[in-house]
Amino acid sequence: MQTDETKTVGAMTPQDSSQALAQARVIQSIEPFVNEHLGTLLKPVGESWQPTDWLPDLAAEGWQEQLHDFRARARDLPDELLVVLVGDMVTEEALPSYQTSLNRFRGVGDPTGASDSPWARWSRGWTAEENRHGDLLNRYLYLSGRVDMRAIETTIHHLISNGFDPHTANDPYCGFVYTSFQERATKISHRNVGDLAKRAGEERLHHICDQIAADEARHERAYKLFMGQVFERDPSGAVLAFAQMMKTKIAMPALLMEDGKRAGLFARFSRVAQKVGVYTATDYASIIGALVAEWKIGGLKGLSGAAADEQEFLCGLSARYQKLAERVKFNGPETFSWIYDREIQLASVAPAF
Ligand SMILES: [Fe+2]
Ligand SMILES: [Fe+2]
Repeated sequence: MQTDETKTVGAMTPQDSSQALAQARVIQSIEPFVNEHLGTLLKPVGESWQPTDWLPDLAAEGWQEQLHDFRARARDLPDELLVVLVGDMVTEEALPSYQTSLNRFRGVGDPTGASDSPWARWSRGWTAEENRHGDLLNRYLYLSGRVDMRAIETTIHHLISNGFDPHTANDPYCGFVYTSFQERATKISHRNVGDLAKRAGEERLHHICDQIAADEARHERAYKLFMGQVFERDPSGAVLAFAQMMKTKIAMPALLMEDGKRAGLFARFSRVAQKVGVYTATDYASIIGALVAEWKIGGLKGLSGAAADEQEFLCGLSARYQKLAERVKFNGPETFSWIYDREIQLASVAPAF
């Protein structure tokens, strides 16, 4: 039988464990914090950039010149840059999977789809901001004329259809560890693609990637703050969730992408991203270190026995990954349908995680 408490806390069911119920109570207690900070963690719509701001205006007089200029600047982008840009765009375009994940975290969801609760407003506001990322990169690539859009669209179709499992098991603590990690990872990736564009002389793409990276940075801050609130209220539970996610390893959102032509698309994309320094094993190690520092894991006191063990594990983890990143190497060319089956030569590089 459902108790009054389970009815009111995060739509819990009688099957949910007492630990899950306690977690849902913590998540509910953070709502006033979310409410208070929503105005700075999300940007008002009227002050937000939109994809059109960065693209040729096809309704303007002289649109042909604008488009001609746009394509001329994109003409010399190297294949490696195109591949990492496409991979990042495909990742962004699978947003339906990520909103679904967010709404599955117990207590964080949007029960009606238009709920006024702080968590629901965060979930929809975050999704609305993220939605511009895929739109902008997709239109940039389409207008550039440099890539096989049908192969890319097929990849997106497969990815959304295949889905995405962040291995958070609907646990909101694990969910916020995951999102803190992943927003930082995407920030790094977009920023590095922007740097490559700058080096290739494509200032517009540089600015586009920087704008997106700035959004990711704000979202990273938000999720770190949310998880920081969890650490204040339930430090042992928070440490255990952080350790659990690190042992499971952070699954990349585009893990299940495929183009219907050649196997191992995500692994091939990751190797190119590693090679060009867009997202590397060293980045993975550094993100762990940054989160350990953010949540001041080393200084947490009064932890349960199990959490104290994981505290030690977490504090040494970034260095362990760093060593691993330096050791393992691989070689070989990679081929992508996205760029009309042209081959990219890989020098000896370490694997991305
Ligand atoms: Fe994004
Ligand atoms: Fe993001």
